Amino acid sequence: MADGTFYLTTPIYYVNAEPHIGHAYTTIMADMVARHRRQRGDDVFFLTGTDEHGDKIARSAAEAGRSPRQHADALSERFRELGATLGASNDFFIRTTDAPHERAVAEVLARLHDSGDVYRDAYGGWYCTACEAFYREEELGQGRSCPVHGTPAEWLEEENWFFRLSAYRDRLIALYDAEPQFVRPEGRANEARRMIEDGLEDLSISRVNVDWGVPVPWDTDQTVYVWFDALLNYYSALRYARDGEDLVARFWPPDLQLMAKDILKFHAVIWPAMLMAAGLPLPRGLFVHGYVLKGGERMSKTTGNVVDPFPFIERFGIDALRYYLVREISFGEDGTFTAEGFEARYTNELANELGNLLNRTVSMIDRYRAAAVPAPPADSALAAELVDRTEAVVGAFDRVELTRAVEEAWVLVRRLNRLVEERAPWSLARDPARALELDSALGELAEGVRAAALLLWPVMPGSCERILRALGQPDDDVALHRARWGAGAAGARVDRSGPLFPRVEVPA
Ligand code: MSP
Repeated sequence: MADGTFYLTTPIYYVNAEPHIGHAYTTIMADMVARHRRQRGDDVFFLTGTDEHGDKIARSAAEAGRSPRQHADALSERFRELGATLGASNDFFIRTTDAPHERAVAEVLARLHDSGDVYRDAYGGWYCTACEAFYREEELGQGRSCPVHGTPAEWLEEENWFFRLSAYRDRLIALYDAEPQFVRPEGRANEARRMIEDGLEDLSISRVNVDWGVPVPWDTDQTVYVWFDALLNYYSALRYARDGEDLVARFWPPDLQLMAKDILKFHAVIWPAMLMAAGLPLPRGLFVHGYVLKGGERMSKTTGNVVDPFPFIERFGIDALRYYLVREISFGEDGTFTAEGFEARYTNELANELGNLLNRTVSMIDRYRAAAVPAPPADSALAAELVDRTEAVVGAFDRVELTRAVEEAWVLVRRLNRLVEERAPWSLARDPARALELDSALGELAEGVRAAALLLWPVMPGSCERILRALGQPDDDVALHRARWGAGAAGARVDRSGPLFPRVEVPA
């Protein structure tokens, strides 16, 4: 981070079913961070992808009447398409079935075996295939059901290879002591710390009866436990994402890893222990967000309680979905997705507040100044306001308070709407003696809207580029330093094109 590089990851998604809004959520939030960092001039590497091995995937493939490979190919492609539709600017899309990833998994596992952190033992435990995880009896719900999915856990008894997770207890506690920001928000760090303090059992990291996986290099009757395989994607990707280039030296360790709280233990406990064992530097920070709920329940493929993002995107555009999700669900907490809430924010905030602001600014410049954007007045109070807004947005992004970041930018949108009413350019235009005042008012508005577009660009890149074009500004330089007063291109001419957020007919 200090060296100007920024490595950012999402979880890699299981290819057992179609993607839903829950997956879109993490990818969109990560994309906002990636874009904001690029605006600040950082050298960013943003990774996402799919988690394709293990019993969960093999079973869903069998249900679909396909081989695991065909199934993984088809669904991985759906996740890739989702990313493209969301406007995700990821630098690579990893699949755990990529041969170089599989080689890296085998190599790291062999390293742990050589160093004595991996041993063989017999084990019996309650397993949830949807989680791909063992649970202790006391963690299970009614009828020995999985605490996450509510589906029955299965008793598994095998000879497996184990990772000496318990040996890392003290080092993990020392990590949480030394790095209070390792896991954010703080409540999640406390939760992870309790998991560590409550006692860590060694972790079974191979399976006997699961063929769909990476073979254990020294014992090919076993395959590597899917979570051990999956977590290593964050490392392996850097080794082969660019042909002939090893990005590990440039980007490792990750600056920020995003996920929901369902997979806290894997990332906040097991993952750092694996890295300690492998002798690799630890991530600088994890941010654990909440759940997108539907009807009060977590959206989840396993329970079928999902919303398909594609129809919303088709009707309202991707930027509306990005905006709604970041604004509606306070980042870090749970929040509910509703079609009514979505439409309300679209109309009230995007169409009426932002869309109208642009429309009024551009139409008045067109009408009163023959489309030529007047220079912004040097003495405007907005100049200082832009410094404040930019600092507030940067600060919020640094703390990964993404909802806060968009709210801070929106303060400027509201300020500009008030300014339109206060200056009332339409009445200035009726009095030729006030021509300079009119210039000043229009120049002020145009400059403010231009800056707002730059502050909001990580949230709604396409719409903000349209705003810049409508104001006669280049849309290919969105560096954040351009959000300062007077940085706009001189001699610009407004371009009246259709509304930014058109009215959408909502079928009854
Ligand atoms: N494959 C594992 C992750 C391995 S990472 C090394 C996995 N996959 S998953 O498909 O189940 O995706 C879980 C992640 O998707 C969550 O941690 C979160 O990032 C995102 N979400 C899935 N459903 C979600 C909600 N309903 N709400 C918020 N995020 C959601 O776990």
